[in-house]
Amino acid sequence: MNTSDFLFLSQDKKVDSLTVTWQTPSNIALVKYWGKSEPQIPKNASISFTLNNCHTTTKIEFTKTLPKNKAEFELFFEGKKKDDFKPKIAKFFERIQKYCTYILEYNMVISSENSFPHSSGIASSASGMSAITMCLMNLEKELNPNLTDKYINKKASFLARLGSGSASRSIEGPLVVWGSHPKIKGSSDLFGIKFPYKIHPVFENYQDAILLVDKGEKQVSSTVGHNLMHDHPYAENRFTQANENLEKISKILQNGDIKTFINLVESEALTLHAMMLTSNPYFILMKPNTLEIINKIWEYRRENDSNICFTLDAGANVHVLYPNSEKTEVEVFIKNDLAAYCQKNHYICDSVGFGARPILT
Ligand code: DP6
Repeated sequence: MNTSDFLFLSQDKKVDSLTVTWQTPSNIALVKYWGKSEPQIPKNASISFTLNNCHTTTKIEFTKTLPKNKAEFELFFEGKKKDDFKPKIAKFFERIQKYCTYILEYNMVISSENSFPHSSGIASSASGMSAITMCLMNLEKELNPNLTDKYINKKASFLARLGSGSASRSIEGPLVVWGSHPKIKGSSDLFGIKFPYKIHPVFENYQDAILLVDKGEKQVSSTVGHNLMHDHPYAENRFTQANENLEKISKILQNGDIKTFINLVESEALTLHAMMLTSNPYFILMKPNTLEIINKIWEYRRENDSNICFTLDAGANVHVLYPNSEKTEVEVFIKNDLAAYCQKNHYICDSVGFGARPILT
């Protein structure tokens, strides 16, 4: 498929007003996306677990108006007008208006809320952008009832990517690959696809406890972060390594080799941070408690012959990953031994989920 497949084809159907609500999740990358070129094309393929409890719920009220030359909208976040989020969304609408010309013919009132606390350090761009996108695709389906669910998900991922790269992986679940890769059938730089092979049962209902080590604003915005890869001395090797890791993890996810999974996922997390340590300007995004937690996880794994492991985002929080079969014991360990390293003992227990869903009101 190419970009022209995502142009809107009018069916002459009239919709005067429509209100829709969608809930879409956050996701956690196992092989990381770090580095991109215009327009939001990843330098390597990535794969993530779609989450379940961490999500954004977004309502859009569309009212038909005369066509304008840029999208008009109001934005409310958790019940309050939120003008400081507007530029990012305005830029997103600008990027997608070519594919969704109908947005120029509606006034939009967007109301959003997150299930996770604001400023928890959990990236909300993936769930936020994908939720807006699903609302737009809902309107598009009303305007063109012939669209199939398959096409809707593809176009939604394509559009969400233009808002935030990782948002392309938040439409479906449980595992989504984004970025063209010769060993992943159907993969594309333009949109995310559901991992196309059978997943070993050990990875079903996988658990992710998010330990909130630092709830502050992100020290490095994703735009700045991705840009660091432009003149980075190790960039090319990193992109090659990520694509090799994707091929490896594809096999692991099918054969259930959990020890190799642990090694690969932790190495990816540390490599992401190594890219930031070795860029210029350089950043240390881990906090002392991030390292305390990592060491505790390693100790627990050794002593209990456990399959617990960690991954990291571009921040200090730690995602603790473990199979569903270890849920009870690991949650006791987190509560007793890891929570103390979190801000206000705060952590969120999540698990793998299945993507966007409409909220019927
Ligand atoms: C470290 O998707 O937030 O979480 O495309 O600029 O919006 P933009 O970046 P974003 O980058 C996510 C980076 C990451 C790794 C990942 O999710 O793959």
